[in-house]
Amino acid sequence: MFVSKRKKVETIATAFGTLGLLITFTACGGGVPEDTTTTSSEMEEKKFSVSDVLAMVSEENDITRTLYTKAIVGAGKKQGLKFDEDWQDDAIEAGPLPALFLRGISSDIRKSDVPLGLYLGSDFPINASNKFTGKQAELFKKIKANEKPQFFYDEDQKMHTAMFADLAVAAPCVNCHNDHKNTTKTDWKLNDVMGATTWQYPSDKLSYKEAIAVLNAYRNGTKAIYNAYLEEIRAFKNSPKPEIGSKWPSGGFQLPTAEVFIDSIRKLASYKSMEVLMSNVEVPKKERVPALPNNEIEIAAN
Ligand code: HEC
Repeated sequence: MFVSKRKKVETIATAFGTLGLLITFTACGGGVPEDTTTTSSEMEEKKFSVSDVLAMVSEENDITRTLYTKAIVGAGKKQGLKFDEDWQDDAIEAGPLPALFLRGISSDIRKSDVPLGLYLGSDFPINASNKFTGKQAELFKKIKANEKPQFFYDEDQKMHTAMFADLAVAAPCVNCHNDHKNTTKTDWKLNDVMGATTWQYPSDKLSYKEAIAVLNAYRNGTKAIYNAYLEEIRAFKNSPKPEIGSKWPSGGFQLPTAEVFIDSIRKLASYKSMEVLMSNVEVPKKERVPALPNNEIEIAAN
């Protein structure tokens, strides 16, 4: 699975060239599926394991994080945009670093009524408060060795907990960490396990509705922090302001609107997420959708 994860990240790296197939596929499904066949009692049934749901939202996070780092931070820097840990200071005209983008998502989720926790840690952190301790430090050693996710029940916090490798998917990850004044390690390399995202949820089973709520809380968090960045740009006094619109990701001094950015993530992520969400929903026989091979032929023809 984790070979394929790395492959997936590489795919995302060149996503703008190869988005076609995924878009074609998800365009039929429309992202998170609109459910027309399941009854409301089925929607309430606790059919999803917490580990599947956390793995699903973690996949979305990998895609969001890679897209933000490459297509906003990486591409933006080339156009003269700045990204800074103190981006929220009035005197600093810059956008959030990837880790702070993630923290923005995490704090927005905390404000919602979805009991989902998200945290980014490491064994050699820039910020000492991001250092793993206790059980998580122990499991992180395993993640470093085999890149496989780790699941456990945190007795102290009474939370089902999942940890997923956070890889150095792009050159800016490595360069910025190696050169940072507070770094505790200066020889990070591309594709290293730089840290892990820790996700927590209180119950071990979720209903379809709850699983969708987790995904939506994550997406709303992405929208909120990205909008906060656009808000920051609007207030720039001394720095040139990029054009914000729908032309992105074509070249030029521009950024996507929140809708365009979220839509790109959704298109990249929704096939995987849909697979998880559909896996436990039984479609009554008479209403089964046409067999897959037809769809495949349609996709191949595109
Ligand atoms: C321009 C600089 C910069 C870039 C690019 C960057 N980071 Fe960071 N990263 C930071 C800073 C600064 C922090 C500490 C933020 C804080 O105060 O919590 C951090 C935090 C982290 C943490 C939490 C542990 C720690 O070091 O505090 C991980 C893991 C991490 N980054 C991985 C990555 C990965 C993977 C990428 C690429 C996808 C990346 N970073 C891109 C600067 C950067």
